[in-house]
Amino acid sequence: MLCAGKGTRMRSEKAKVLHPILGKPLCFYPLMRALELGASPVVPVVGHQAGEVERSVRDLFAAAPLRFALQKEQRGTADAVRSAEEALKDFKGRVLILYGDVPLVRRETLAALATAHEQGGGVLSLVSTRLEDPTGYGRVIREGGLVKRIVEHKDCSPEERLVRECNAGIYLVDSSFLWAALANIKSTNAQGEFYLTDLVEMAASQGPVPAIEADFNETAGVNDRVELAARAKDLQLRINAWHMRNGVSLADPATTYIEEGVTIGPDTEIAPGVSLSGATVVGRQVTIGQGCVLHASSVADGTTLKPYTVLEEARVGERCILGPFSRLRPGTDLAEEVHLGNFVETKKARLGRGTKANHLAYLGDAKIGSGVNIGAGTITCNYDGVNKHVTELGDGVFIGSDSQLVAPVKVGDGAYVGAGTTVTKDVPSGSLAVSRSPQVNKEGWVERNKARLKKSAESGPAKSDKVSAG
Ligand code: UD1
Ligand code: CA
Repeated sequence: MLCAGKGTRMRSEKAKVLHPILGKPLCFYPLMRALELGASPVVPVVGHQAGEVERSVRDLFAAAPLRFALQKEQRGTADAVRSAEEALKDFKGRVLILYGDVPLVRRETLAALATAHEQGGGVLSLVSTRLEDPTGYGRVIREGGLVKRIVEHKDCSPEERLVRECNAGIYLVDSSFLWAALANIKSTNAQGEFYLTDLVEMAASQGPVPAIEADFNETAGVNDRVELAARAKDLQLRINAWHMRNGVSLADPATTYIEEGVTIGPDTEIAPGVSLSGATVVGRQVTIGQGCVLHASSVADGTTLKPYTVLEEARVGERCILGPFSRLRPGTDLAEEVHLGNFVETKKARLGRGTKANHLAYLGDAKIGSGVNIGAGTITCNYDGVNKHVTELGDGVFIGSDSQLVAPVKVGDGAYVGAGTTVTKDVPSGSLAVSRSPQVNKEGWVERNKARLKKSAESGPAKSDKVSAG
């Protein structure tokens, strides 16, 4: 996998292959395809920002059979592949050559390439693509229908320039042929580079060179950020179409963002402007309202997320109703039929079956039982400025509105907390806790107060009174 390129036109401090596309570095996609096909080992050839590229790729594919090769100086695609010889010296078999900046290549196309290679019986097979405007690409030159060689755009004769079939840069080559042939490649061409494409003519002299034709967008690389966005759009629509074919309804696929690796069950309906990223898992018959953002979260069957609900590393059980505007932060774990309404924030909170917090609440570091009713304005005071503490609410607890639960604190099964209470001590099960001061009604106070104010105004108010009255 060639990943050594500088990517000058990205105008970036970051290596080109590390620029994200749908949440993952560009090179994630071709690497993933190679690994899915069982390629082993996989050798990323790194050069520009080699250390960063290697680190990122190792993080992405921790358990994969990776061996990195360094191309010190970029002297052309043949030189890049030669850099991998050492890493592959004990490998005998077919070598798949891919670019790290071509993200949309499909596994099916690579599998078709492998099949064509087997059936053709030659030493090299390649992927080609037909372009309206082939400017800049290597042309696939055929004689009597058979691939004979590839000529780079800059080296083409006027007739060769008319050829629309282009080289995609994806090859399958027998190792027995590859290394010996690479050693014979010269840099006597328009660009003074070692062209990998020179292999094709050598291979064609030994046997057939099958070419699998693929769609342009599958073989298109990324040279600048405009192309990066174009590939991202293609990938987005491809992923979305795949989910729709698997039974997921997307009201507006153009504004639905779903990363590779997300799974969604059938009969789930997704409104416009929804984003599903990371290892998110959505069940069947889930309704996801407009503007919801789900990252690395799971949502079980039959749950409804009303608009603008945000989940991050959260687990949501079956038949819950969340939102609009609920925010579930990491460590949230909801059992079935939980209801969370607008402006309810949860973090490291476990909520039992059927528990409800329908308006304005913060539930952090909380273990909450089933059938609990949490009133508007309830806050778990989990932080004392140094440490975090846990609030525990038993089954069937009722928390009145505008209550604070100063953790660590426990409220036993079935206990009630009166509205406006600041709970600082454990509440035994079955009891009522109220901490607000008793209410006093002063009858006739309003009239008496008005009269007093009027009188003091007549007797000449002090300057400070005027200011406070104003
Ligand atoms: C290459 C092909 C061309 C094909 C086109 C498809 C050659 C000589 N030409 O041209 O036939 O139509 O791809 O996109 O192979 N790279 C390295 N080290 C190097 C040189 C390149 O790692 O020394 C990497 C680049 O980062 C890039 C890939 O190889 O990912 C292709 O290199 P690039 O220079 O873009 O090749 P093209 O001139 O486009
Ligand atoms: Ca290129």
